Amino acid sequence: MKKLFWLLVAVLVMSTALAQQTRLRVFVGGQQRPDVMRKIFDLYQSRNPGVRVDVEVGGATSDQQQQYLTTVLASRDPSIDVILIDVIRPAQYAAAKWADTLDKYLPSATRQALLQQYLPAYAKANVIGGNLVALPSFADAQFLYYRKDLLEKYGLKPPVTWDEAIKQAQTILAGERNPNLNGIGFMGNISEGTVCSFLLPIWAAGGDVDEGGKLVLTEAQARASLQFWLDLMDKHKVAPPNMAEKAQDTIRQEMQAGRWIFGTLFAYAWNRFQNDADSQVKGKIGVVPLPRFEGGRSASCLGGWQWTISDFSKNKAQAYKLVRFLSSPEVSKILAIDASNLPVFPSLYRDADVLKANPWFADALPVVQAARARPVHPRYPEVADVMRKALNAVLARIKTPDAAAKEVIDGLRAIYR
Ligand code: GLC
Repeated sequence: MKKLFWLLVAVLVMSTALAQQTRLRVFVGGQQRPDVMRKIFDLYQSRNPGVRVDVEVGGATSDQQQQYLTTVLASRDPSIDVILIDVIRPAQYAAAKWADTLDKYLPSATRQALLQQYLPAYAKANVIGGNLVALPSFADAQFLYYRKDLLEKYGLKPPVTWDEAIKQAQTILAGERNPNLNGIGFMGNISEGTVCSFLLPIWAAGGDVDEGGKLVLTEAQARASLQFWLDLMDKHKVAPPNMAEKAQDTIRQEMQAGRWIFGTLFAYAWNRFQNDADSQVKGKIGVVPLPRFEGGRSASCLGGWQWTISDFSKNKAQAYKLVRFLSSPEVSKILAIDASNLPVFPSLYRDADVLKANPWFADALPVVQAARARPVHPRYPEVADVMRKALNAVLARIKTPDAAAKEVIDGLRAIYR
């Protein structure tokens, strides 16, 4: 009888504790290392026993994630509290009123002081029309990953220009005679990474899509970019004929299996190459800035991910506390060490533990600082769609660079009216 009494008391205490517990649901994309994020949420829970964080994982690519999130948010679904969004999204979130603006938690002086700690590109990307829409999680940029062992075997130094990269790839491919080995990997399917592929040659030649909200991209610049990527396949034979099928993580997986000499990838790939059990390239990869064109300059695509609070969350105050933790130097350091996610705090690029896990971060800060932002536009998904579909169609040989370039300009004009 006594036992039963105590059992009842225990059940009562536990259920009251559960009832008092706040449950936060966080959305994280499949490529943004949900395993490492879980570790970080466990740490938060251990310090905040009243809070439980559940992770929802979805979408392999940035655009697939957003397609799903658009459905959730457009229906004002309150089930997700906190969302990890790509650096290209804050303007869209602000325009759609999907994000709880964080200004109300941060008096303007505090907000100023907080934002100053981050790399300027991220402080800037998250303030839309004067409102703070999100806080930075990690920085990102595209780099040239290369097979150190293969370049060394042929007495080659990492390439500085695209011409050098093409020649090196041709030399190594001819020497290796390995039908499974490819030259220069880049994104070509209809996904967000392909937008970066499209923009890289335009930036490297000194161009851009818009300036001060006005469309400045010319048809000639668009054509030159489309032709450059097509030539890697058809003229220089350093990429296989099916580049129209390649998403970023496809290139990463193939490079991890030893099938690429060069890959134009974002920072997360490093940790996978070094630590995944199935990696064939552990210790064989080097990372340098992307090549430039003869007489031009190296350009990289600014990436990165941000924490935003859904405006439909029923736990906004608790969600804000979690987001402050997630955007702290402590978490930035964990993400750098466990996932090779580039820090959003400049000092972490000199941190001994961070550099032990990612020696190349020592030279990565200038690349992130010089990286170019994709257009900031409330209708960004449409802007992106025009660019990635054009490059994909050229690589699939459905359209010529001439026809696709014209469509890019017509498509963008309709959006930038
Ligand atoms: C990386 C970048 C992100 C970009 C994506 C494209 O995740 O951080 O900004 O959109 O790659 O694949």
